[in-house]
Amino acid sequence: MGRWPKPAEGSWTEHSGLGTGPISFADSVSPEFYELEREAIFKRAWLNVGRIEELPRNGSYFTKEIAIAKASIVVVRGQDGEVRAFHNVCRHRGNKLVWNEFPHEETRGFCRQFTCKYHGWRYDLEGACAFVQQEEEFFDLDKRDYGLVSVHCDVWNGFIFINLDQEPGQTLREFLGPMITALDGYPFEKLTERYDFVADNDSNWKIFADAFQEYYHVTALHPQQVPVAVRRPDAVECAHFQVEGPHRLVTTAGARRWTLPPEFMYPIERATRSGLLGPWDTPDIGPLPPGLNPSGVEPWGITNFQIFPNVEILIYGGWYLLYRYWPTSPNTHHFEGMLAFHPARTVRERVANEVAAVVFKEFALQDAAMLGGTQSALETRAVERFPLSDQEVLVRHFHKVVGDWVHDYLRATVGVGA
Ligand code: FES
Ligand SMILES: [Fe+2]
Repeated sequence: MGRWPKPAEGSWTEHSGLGTGPISFADSVSPEFYELEREAIFKRAWLNVGRIEELPRNGSYFTKEIAIAKASIVVVRGQDGEVRAFHNVCRHRGNKLVWNEFPHEETRGFCRQFTCKYHGWRYDLEGACAFVQQEEEFFDLDKRDYGLVSVHCDVWNGFIFINLDQEPGQTLREFLGPMITALDGYPFEKLTERYDFVADNDSNWKIFADAFQEYYHVTALHPQQVPVAVRRPDAVECAHFQVEGPHRLVTTAGARRWTLPPEFMYPIERATRSGLLGPWDTPDIGPLPPGLNPSGVEPWGITNFQIFPNVEILIYGGWYLLYRYWPTSPNTHHFEGMLAFHPARTVRERVANEVAAVVFKEFALQDAAMLGGTQSALETRAVERFPLSDQEVLVRHFHKVVGDWVHDYLRATVGVGA
């Protein structure tokens, strides 16, 4: 499976090699499959846990609870400026090292050393054990043997990734591959005005990811987005789909919001020149890399880069959105959404950014409102096979890749399916 050609005839799906038949969502309702995803995917893939702006200076840190991997991670910028990740586990008797009021909640801050709350062992920012209370009471204890357990960590364009595998098979850059690294040069570092949302949703993580892999649902679920009266043709059709390895990409053609007749806009959109597709007048952030719009769609709308397994970066030109889906059980997940804009230089720009953030939330809630219904209906198992349209080809790819990773893992560990 590789890069798809833009079909001169036929369909994206027929070119994909993924088949055209109905698919199963058993992978989203099975506790056994969830256990396999834990080992096969979340303990092996590179996972984006944050942005470099979250570690603004040496000594800045944040923790990340990754329930599916049964891991708590502390990510820290050391005295040398390097970003490192460690298991958040004290080497003395296993207490969680970094937490604030509640051990299961994530935290962030700034420090010179980490001190365990239990017996006061201390660790420096590079993970070395720096102090043992009453060290002489121990037996042949060499502090050098008791540093924090490190986790593979790398940064791509300011996105901090970790990998929980002892020996990742690929570097981060190899894992991301050419389709995603074609975003090199996009000025993420200039877009530092952030709006963050979290939600705990009642569905398997893949069910929500599916909602952002296709725009087929827009006509029914978000009719305000492109009103029927101005939609040509009477459907939302994407201009370009592409896959590379486990990752996916979809580009939409741009019905510019501001070109709609005024009666199709919310009054606040006209007043603030902002809305669902973001601020209408974003500051010039310089040249954008060609990989942003790989097939040269004109007028270009957005490109949604879906980085396996659980991250999407949706780029709207002068700003971007990021989603992460963290599985918390077979039928729940923790959703993180972030909007990133160029810092407002005027009150008008600030208002425009805030309106975009609020309108985004309205549409995300429309998507999220489907989740409990889909999950509970799938769990009845009354229907086992579901047809997918050509516009849903990335849903087909996503579930195929998840299945492939699980099968590869089983083959490698217990010889199943070899
Ligand atoms: S468990 Fe951390 S110092 Fe004892
Ligand atoms: Fe949607």
